[in-house]
Amino acid sequence: MRKVVVLKHPLIDHKMAKIRDKNTGTKEFRESVSEVGGLITYEITRDLDTVAKEIETPICKTTVYELKKQVVIVPILRAGLGMVEGIHNLIPTAKIGHVGLYRDEKTLEPQVYYKKFPEGFEDSVVLVVDPMLATAGSAAKAIDIVKEAGATDIRYVGLVGSPEGVERLQKDHPDVAIFLAALDSHLNEVGYIVPGLGDCGDRLFGTK
Ligand code: PRP
Ligand code: URA
Repeated sequence: MRKVVVLKHPLIDHKMAKIRDKNTGTKEFRESVSEVGGLITYEITRDLDTVAKEIETPICKTTVYELKKQVVIVPILRAGLGMVEGIHNLIPTAKIGHVGLYRDEKTLEPQVYYKKFPEGFEDSVVLVVDPMLATAGSAAKAIDIVKEAGATDIRYVGLVGSPEGVERLQKDHPDVAIFLAALDSHLNEVGYIVPGLGDCGDRLFGTK
């Protein structure tokens, strides 16, 4: 089984404090979600393979190192979109795929409404991003879809997880490492993470 990593970093904690606070407005919320996406990505991409290449600096020839595989960021719509910019700032060569899902409010089952992936997806490092790992129904379904499209090297990147969600995702996709900024206490009776940060999509897009 692949690992679950909860990243401990003072900057991540500081930004998570803003994100969790119900008095944080849409602009600061959106900026902080994006920034934490970038900070997590910096930490979790340390092990990506690189290839050597010969170039000339203005002074002389030298060997430099570039990422070996294409990276594809796959946000789960809508809330995953909030993390894309921060990740893309770090990996500007990354391509972006999309999976559109929403949780049915009564059953909490994920409903798929969109999917689109770039060329060469099968050979890429795929970062499936969604701030909230609650029941993990959405993440598990999104990873099913990403695997059906041929991806094999997949990492899940989120902000807040629940113990229930981590257990379910590890069971459904034991080959996928899970990276989070925080692992919270539990889910409440309507499937929200406690203490969590509320409805991430609504807070990002001001829809409530
Ligand atoms: C939220 C969140 C996740 C999902 C997590 O999306 O962004 O995708 O819930 O819950 P789960 O782990 O129980 O599946 P939501 O369904 O509210 O859609 P939205 O992003 O469009 O607001
Ligand atoms: N989706 C959210 O946006 N928040 C939660 O706490 C759970 C699912």
